[in-house]
This record gives sequence, C-alpha cells and structure tokens, in this order.
Amino acid sequence: MDNYAVFGNPVEHSLSPMIHTQFAKQTGCDIRYTKILAAKDRFTDCALDFVSSGGKGFNITVPFKIEAFKLANHLTRNAKTAGAINTIKIQDGELYGENTDGKGLIDDLCNNLGLSLEGKDILILGAGGATQGILLPLLEQKPLRILLANRTKTKAEKLAVDFAKYGKVCGFSMEQIKDRPVDIIINATSASLSGEMPAILSGVAEGAFCYDLMYGQKTPFMAWAEKSGASGVSDGLGMLVEQAAEAYYFWRGVKPKTNEVLTSLRATIG
Ligand code: ATR
Repeated sequence: MDNYAVFGNPVEHSLSPMIHTQFAKQTGCDIRYTKILAAKDRFTDCALDFVSSGGKGFNITVPFKIEAFKLANHLTRNAKTAGAINTIKIQDGELYGENTDGKGLIDDLCNNLGLSLEGKDILILGAGGATQGILLPLLEQKPLRILLANRTKTKAEKLAVDFAKYGKVCGFSMEQIKDRPVDIIINATSASLSGEMPAILSGVAEGAFCYDLMYGQKTPFMAWAEKSGASGVSDGLGMLVEQAAEAYYFWRGVKPKTNEVLTSLRATIG
C-alpha cells in the first residue's frame, strides 16, 4: 500500500482524503491518504518524518505552501513561478514540488464549466499567494488581458510586473476598477473567509462569469455577483477536485475522472 498525506494547520476540514480515496478506488490503486496536523513551527520535521517512513507523496495546505516550496529539491516551471507548492512527490529520496492549483482552476473553468479563456478580459481580485499560484496557467490560456485589483495597490502592481513576461497583466487598486463589464471575475482574496466582499462597482459583473476560489457555502462575492447580473456564478469546489486530480496524476501518472467525485462531494457538503 502506498502512503500519501495532506499537511496543514488546521487540517481537520480537509476534503482531500475523501477525494483521493475515491480516485484510488476508481483507478484500482491501493493507497492510504491521511491528514497530518503539523505544529506551525514543525512542518519541515513532520514532512521529513513522513518521507523517512516511506511515504510516496503529500499535499500541502495553509499555512505551509511556501515552506514546502523551500523544502522541495526539484520544482516544475509552474511551481517556480507560483513561489509556493501544494504537492510533493517522493522518488528515490528526492522531493519533487508542483503547484496544481492553477491547473485545477483551468480544468474547472474550461472542462466543467465550459468556458474558453482565449481572448477574454479577466479580472482577478486579490494579489496574495492564491493569485500568484494561478497567474501563469491563466496567462497560458492567452486571455486578452488580466486585470489584477488589490486592496493594497502596490502588491497588484508588483505581481503584474513579475508576470509581464508571460502575457498582458496590469495592476490596480480596487477603487480603480471601472463600472464596465469584463468577461470573467475571479475572487482570489481571502475576504470570503471573514464573510466579506471586496468593495468594487457592480457594473463590472454584468454578463461576466464570476468564480470564487472558496467553497463550502455561498460567499458574499457570489451573492454580490448574482445580484449584479453575472452570467454565471461558481464556487471553487470544482477547482479543489481538479487540483487533486492533477496531484494524483503528478504522483501516479494516471489522471482520474472527476465528475462523479465532484457530484458526490457536492452532495456531502451541501
Ligand atoms: P492567500 O494565500 O489566500 O492569497 P494572502 O497571501 O494573505 O493569502 O493574500 C490575501 C489576499 O486577500 C490579499 O490580496 C489581500 O489584500 P491585501 O494585499 O490588501 O492584504 C486580500 N484581502 C483579504 N481580505 C480582504 C478584504 N476584506 N477585502 C479585500 N481584499 C482582501
């Protein structure tokens, strides 16, 4: 049996064991996937213990994604650009790091929700770690441009400069976002965690597809999008399942099907 795990703090809420257990069943693999709560200053020790015990790979969630980035011996191009990782594969004692969040988002937007990103105007709210993790895969879809809006304008501007070599991306403050529609809005702020909604003009959502990276319940951003005439609204549960499928593929070279897992998860969490 191959051992996998997810490290986080907190980690109790993680749906990853449920998802990966279903992937394993579907692909006929014998794996065990556990949640490991690491003390905030003990991630590296805990992860190395898991490696020594013969573990095959692990996921990393908040707040350890940057520490995991530093721990990995090898990084994919995508991981290097993201500056943080959510997946490590262990092979011959070496740690291979990948960030599957962006790929998971693209898979959900394009395959599950039927959107095409090419030539589209995309507005991302937030310029923290979550945004950094999804920018390269989004730019690789060749949108017309990506507008980054952040409460702290300088962070959006810096990220825009850092990613300018991959495509057209500009940084703004939230106040600078105009009352003019875009095609897609992605909420990558952590505002939903505290039940808040970044303050922007409602006209920007008219006819736009609005996607919140958060999942679990209708967020203030999703409620705002519905009221503001969005053409579609989604939470990030599909991205969660898709990033897990990309991690499973990174570990085992088999890409599980996600539809049934997403449906059963949706039924579980309501
Ligand atoms: P994560 O890894 O989840 O992206 P982070 O790196 O701490 O977490 O970034 C959080 C992001 O959410 C930031 O862009 C933050 O804006 P600031 O850079 O101005 O701090 C944004 N954010 C958090 N709460 C917010 C709120 N209530 N309204 C608007 N933006 C918010």
